[in-house]
Amino acid sequence: MSFLNKHKAIETHATLLLVLSLLVVSIGGLVQILPLFYLENTIEDVEGVRPYTPLELAGREIYMREGCYVCHSQMIRPMRDEVERYGHYSLAAESMYDRPFLWGSKRTGPDLARVGGRYSDEWHVDHLMNPQSVVPESIMPKYEYMMGNVIDARYIKDSMRANQIFGVPYTDEMMANAEADFAAQADPNADGDALLARYPKAQWRNFDGQPELTEMDALVAYLQVLGTMVDFSTFQPDPNR
Ligand code: HEC
Repeated sequence: MSFLNKHKAIETHATLLLVLSLLVVSIGGLVQILPLFYLENTIEDVEGVRPYTPLELAGREIYMREGCYVCHSQMIRPMRDEVERYGHYSLAAESMYDRPFLWGSKRTGPDLARVGGRYSDEWHVDHLMNPQSVVPESIMPKYEYMMGNVIDARYIKDSMRANQIFGVPYTDEMMANAEADFAAQADPNADGDALLARYPKAQWRNFDGQPELTEMDALVAYLQVLGTMVDFSTFQPDPNR
């Protein structure tokens, strides 16, 4: 077998083997990496995905501050056991406005990518105040202080602008109304139509049941939107992808 004999020459020559291996690996690498430079967009557009409302964005920042992502993932893998437990596998588009993404890397608690709408606001408030009151064996820490932490819209424009820099398409109109939208989403007496026009399907109510706007309102508003933007009863994957 002359072919095998020739290959023996490579296998018995360490430097030659190294150089040729590197060559093969770099060709493989280039084939994977180069297309990313000329493709306009690698994320399939999916109807329904919109930037977070100011209040949801504030909730997301509280989620990051508290390190919820250390115990919770937000990424449902396309495997049968995960899809049966958590719902449709996560689409790239669903985290396209997440700066930074919060996929997480470990599940001490369950995945939260589709927790929106799964529980009532009251359940979330009770659970965050004292997880063991609703799930006795839970090892999740208590976050009851959030109920007392009143927040305002002071920094919300800065947050939105930071997201804008990284490509989240907040419009001039969204920016101009940032403070108003922030307050309106947790106030059942506010003009919710304006909020809904800017952020379709936004949920708008008093999330924590208290008159003050607190960190609890923002965090629950964020949890309740997770995984609800895409309507999976009508979603069809793009066959060309
Ligand atoms: C030390 C790890 C840990 C941290 C940190 C943590 N959790 Fe949890 N979480 C858990 C565990 C374990 C469960 C499952 C038991 C339970 O429901 O309490 C859970 C459950 C949940 C659930 C219910 C999910 C479901 O589908 O039943 C939500 C919502 C949740 N956590 C939100 C949060 C938020 C928001 C934060 C940050 C403020 C947070 N968690 C921080 C461990 C953690």
